[in-house]
Amino acid sequence: MAILIRSFFFMPMLLFLLTISDLFVPIHGLGFGINYGQIANNLPLPSQVAVLIKSMNVTRIKLYDADPNVLVAFSQSNMEFVIGLGNEYLQNMTNPSKAQTWIQQHVQPYLSQTKITCITVGNEVFNSNDTQLMLNLLPAMQNVHDALVNLGLDQQVSVTTAHSFNIISNSYPPSSGAFRQDLVQYIQPLLDFHAQISTPFLINAYPFFAYKDNPNEVSLNYVLFQPNQGSVDPNTNLHYDNMLYAQIDAVYAAIKAMGHSDIQVRISETGWPSGGDPEEVGATPQNAALYNGNLLKRIEQKQGTPANPSVPIDIYVFALFNENLKPGPASERNYGLYYPNGVPVYNIGLKGYLPQMPMAAKSNNLLVNFLACMIPCLIIALELSR
Ligand SMILES: *[C@@H]1O[C@H](CO)[C@@H](O)[C@H](O)[C@H]1NC(C)=O
Ligand SMILES: *[C@@H]1O[C@H](CO)[C@@H](O)[C@H](O)[C@H]1NC(C)=O
Ligand SMILES: *[C@@H]1O[C@H](CO)[C@@H](O)[C@H](O)[C@H]1NC(C)=O
Repeated sequence: MAILIRSFFFMPMLLFLLTISDLFVPIHGLGFGINYGQIANNLPLPSQVAVLIKSMNVTRIKLYDADPNVLVAFSQSNMEFVIGLGNEYLQNMTNPSKAQTWIQQHVQPYLSQTKITCITVGNEVFNSNDTQLMLNLLPAMQNVHDALVNLGLDQQVSVTTAHSFNIISNSYPPSSGAFRQDLVQYIQPLLDFHAQISTPFLINAYPFFAYKDNPNEVSLNYVLFQPNQGSVDPNTNLHYDNMLYAQIDAVYAAIKAMGHSDIQVRISETGWPSGGDPEEVGATPQNAALYNGNLLKRIEQKQGTPANPSVPIDIYVFALFNENLKPGPASERNYGLYYPNGVPVYNIGLKGYLPQMPMAAKSNNLLVNFLACMIPCLIIALELSR
């Protein structure tokens, strides 16, 4: 009773405080990160993309390389970058002095202007069928980490790698998640290293693949975060209303089965294609809008997964743009939230703005060029001053 009275008493005050604080919340970014892939020949310049991404209120970007043009375009921006060391570099990174040189040339020069917080060493290495690459992964990660330590940068830049969800052989029910048996020999020491340096385990997870492969068995509502019955994990009694959360918890379970409950799982890629080949069932703009739109709402609510309700899901959406040169089925070229001209592929309420910048060569009107270059700067200045 006392509690009831007290909460009645405080209620108006609490509402008042909430209203006030709502008004004065500093503009903080949306909670998700975005993958900025560049396998295309028609993308806007990084300086234009910088305006677009800032106008989306996104504050975290993941790159697949360490493109200096992008890092410079975002200088002084407070944007957090995950940069990538491609699989083709892993052999060289097994040499400590080459690892240190790479950091000195590709990371250190940009750090005073651009916030690089993480390096992914290799991408989906265990999906490659390349045993030498798999053997090189951990030594490469260790050398990159050691180089950061030597240069005094390990407190600001962390080291990890991103995996395909295919490294999980058993994902249902989530509590019996397990790594592929043939990969355990590589993954056990990798997990020990993650625990030692306290960095997260990254997974690229695409419920789209599960649906596409089995549209008659897999519920579309379940994969799209739409209302549905969901399923209960018989071992834990936890209820799952979407496949992505089940996949995340399956990875936690697989890690736990290898003796670690001290490593966080994060999603380095997820998304849904807005188009595909005729046999790629489900690749439509409507489904992509539902998947990404519903996911963004859950990220906003800072939801955790059923097995880890207090750890908000941490996600990089794939991808910023449709990438016209990606090989593989048509879906691969249709994961973008935006077309290269800055038009949203579908509406999920992201009002990003891509400034047009005519090439100097195409226009000899100095004033037009001057204005075209100044307007984005003004917009950035306005954004920053708000
Ligand atoms: C690896 O190192 C060798 C020798 O320093 C260099 O020639 C080669 O380009 C490097 N490989 C990559 C992918 O950077
Ligand atoms: C790896 O090998 C499997 C089985 O031979 C094959 O299905 C798969 O496409 C291969 N993956 C790559 C990336 O080459
Ligand atoms: C970004 O945040 C501002 C201020 O909260 C808001 O007015 C704007 O609509 C947001 N933009 C997007 C694309 O969410």
